[in-house]
Amino acid sequence: MSELRNLPLSAALLTLTWLAAVPSSAQDDPWEGTPQKAFLDSEIVRKYQCVTCHTIADQGGTVGPILNLVGLRREKDWLDRWLADPNAIKPGTKMPKFPFAPGERETTVGYLADMKRRLRTAEILAGDQEQTAKGRALFVDYDCYACHRIGDEGRFVGPDLTWVGLRKTERWERIWLSDPPGFKPDTFMPNFHIPQEGVAALAAYLHTLQGQDNDAGRQWEYRISMFINTNDVFRGEMVWKRYGCWACHGENGKGGIRNPNAAPGHEFVPDMSGVRDKYDKEAFLAKITSGSEVPAADPQAVPQPYRCPAYPREAFNQQDVDDLYAYVASLAPPKLRWIIK
Ligand code: HEC
Ligand code: HEC
Ligand code: HEC
Repeated sequence: MSELRNLPLSAALLTLTWLAAVPSSAQDDPWEGTPQKAFLDSEIVRKYQCVTCHTIADQGGTVGPILNLVGLRREKDWLDRWLADPNAIKPGTKMPKFPFAPGERETTVGYLADMKRRLRTAEILAGDQEQTAKGRALFVDYDCYACHRIGDEGRFVGPDLTWVGLRKTERWERIWLSDPPGFKPDTFMPNFHIPQEGVAALAAYLHTLQGQDNDAGRQWEYRISMFINTNDVFRGEMVWKRYGCWACHGENGKGGIRNPNAAPGHEFVPDMSGVRDKYDKEAFLAKITSGSEVPAADPQAVPQPYRCPAYPREAFNQQDVDDLYAYVASLAPPKLRWIIK
């Protein structure tokens, strides 16, 4: 196991999935005869090993989105452009540009476009459940888990949503879900063309996510950490994702996230590079449990600027704080003590 210890999180998770993979017998395979299974068994997947990073039917890695229902959210034309050159659509993506032989790209697009099912949107919305229960059903129906995590379920391609209700307003969610690329043109989140009633139900559901599943996520991290890497910075990156710091401060605390309608001088949510030197661990904890905001450019306009949420103090145990601080401190440029002396 020792060679696993220094891998970055995504690579380590990938290796784990392989170790845990259990071949299923053909008789009781619920995927038998489905388009997902056809793709899994195809020459393309065998040749290019898409399952290293993607879950297809019940097999594969956790680095990329779950592909089982990809046909619901991507048009053929988009899939073709993506396979031709992933980096042109998402600079820096881990998905390689494959050297497809003539015809193979078209074949792959054909498989992917078939991987969908009939949406139950109308039935769900017509039901007599609570609004939030409808939202939760829609979340499953659109397969939002393919990219997002809540507690210990889902993937890390988009921000973890365990705490999304604390950091974003319901009103902002409605704007976002109506048309993500309309709000942020370079986003990887597709437009699902959800009817307005569905958007409202999803937003209401997302707003209920205020950390109820925090402990499930934390227990999962402990298991991963014990198995792969007990280093505090490694654990801290998972903690960073679980609380959704990524959603505002950038995936690796690198910043670059535009703060909508924030006053001049605050256009971007700060990166984390100066935090180690500005805050000791106590001041850091005080900062994220007290909440703070930046002035608005137009106080009447919607959406409001993002604010650093006041996470409840009891949401963090000591290990969370230690690991999160270690991770954030690791993002600062190295200290040159020997020069200062
Ligand atoms: C080394 C890892 C890796 C491999 C191998 C890989 N992908 Fe990906 N793929 C990704 C990642 C990561 C993303 C999401 C984009 C991002 O976050 O950078 C992605 C995204 C996608 C998407 C868009 C999914 C969506 O939900 O919108 C499709 C389609 C896709 N990959 C198909 C494939 C196919 C087909 C293969 C094999 C021929 C393959 N990928 C192999 C990492 C990989
Ligand atoms: C193909 C991957 C993908 C799928 C599928 C997807 N999302 Fe996203 N989502 C993202 C990414 C990436 C972001 C980050 C936005 C950005 O900065 O570009 C995001 C952002 C979000 C946010 C804002 C997150 C925050 O932390 O504040 C919400 C809310 C959200 N998505 C909800 C949903 C819902 C609901 C669905 C299903 C209808 C869904 N997403 C499906 C990739 C995806
Ligand atoms: C909804 C968006 C949002 C989320 C989520 C968020 N922050 Fe913030 N954060 C901000 C904004 C905006 C500021 C700038 C306002 C300020 O400095 O008071 C900020 C400021 C900070 C600062 C001070 C930075 C500096 O250079 O002085 C720290 C430290 C910080 N956040 C840490 C975190 C951590 C850790 C998390 C996750 C537990 C987190 N934030 C989650 C929006 C967010």
